[in-house]
Amino acid sequence: MKTRILQTLKETDGYVSGQELCDSLGISRTAVWKYMNKLKEEGYQIEAVPNKGYHLLTVPDVMTESEIKSRIHTKWAGSEIHCYEVIDSTNNAAKNAAEQGSAHGSLFIAEQQNAGKGRRGRSWVSPAGTGIWMTILLKPELEPSYASMLTLVAALSMSRAIQEVTGLVAKIKWPNDIVVNGKKVCGILTEMSAEMECIHYVVIGLGTNVNIEEFPEEIRETATSLMREAGKHIDRVPVICAFLSCFEKDYETFIERKNLSGLLENYNERLVNRGREVRILDLNGEYIGTAEGIDERGALIVVKEKGETVTITSGEVSVRGIYGYV
Ligand code: BTN
Repeated sequence: MKTRILQTLKETDGYVSGQELCDSLGISRTAVWKYMNKLKEEGYQIEAVPNKGYHLLTVPDVMTESEIKSRIHTKWAGSEIHCYEVIDSTNNAAKNAAEQGSAHGSLFIAEQQNAGKGRRGRSWVSPAGTGIWMTILLKPELEPSYASMLTLVAALSMSRAIQEVTGLVAKIKWPNDIVVNGKKVCGILTEMSAEMECIHYVVIGLGTNVNIEEFPEEIRETATSLMREAGKHIDRVPVICAFLSCFEKDYETFIERKNLSGLLENYNERLVNRGREVRILDLNGEYIGTAEGIDERGALIVVKEKGETVTITSGEVSVRGIYGYV
């Protein structure tokens, strides 16, 4: 109901009367008044003028179910939206909810995580109010080997969303870091529950540094935030909504073919490593080559110094630029 009131306020240029809201939503005047107060508590500035009605003056950058729902037009991405002030990890929240039967496309977002998880068992610093710490739950009818490709789909969608909203050129460091001006703004951690033959569910967690001003010494060289790069505060909700809409499209393109062929061109155009020398660290040691792009299954095609072409799959390797992070 709060979402519908918010939507009506946003769609109305001038004032919407309390009576119109009562009639269209089938609720009492008192209920309308209570919802208006809740919205004001969340930070919306709403003017109430006798005999005219309500008028929305400003919208805060709050990550609430109502705010996100009032802005998205997706079919299933964001089907359920769960927002938390503080949580251990949104990936954990998504996994718990999946076990309880939450729907495909459900989204889990926190203002702050106190046990945020990064890849390779690292922790992910997730301070309050300055980032987008979110996880999307998926229930694809796929074999487990396809799950790593979903991470690449999410990376593509997030890089598109960031670029669309901020105008910054958001590239992808294979397989799934988003970088702006050579530094990481977003990392992705995918976890899954599966049997040999089928996936029960996949959770894709995306951590985006949005309005972080300073980074700890250890990561200052490699990490940045959208605010630092854009030189201004960036609202988070538009980025979340753009991601949901891009991801729904990209995911469906992926599912149609069960490979990345429909997304390949777009992904490769955004690949920061493309045409660059990279240092590959795998089980057999270390070598240098030139990254050409990804193939339909998301493996990175690398031409070694002596001309031999190899494809490397994520998980087994670490890819670095020869002069640093990218
Ligand atoms: C990486 O190491 O690059 C992956 C970082 C993933 C962080 C996100 S924040 C939202 C979600 N919840 C977590 O605990 N981790 C992911």
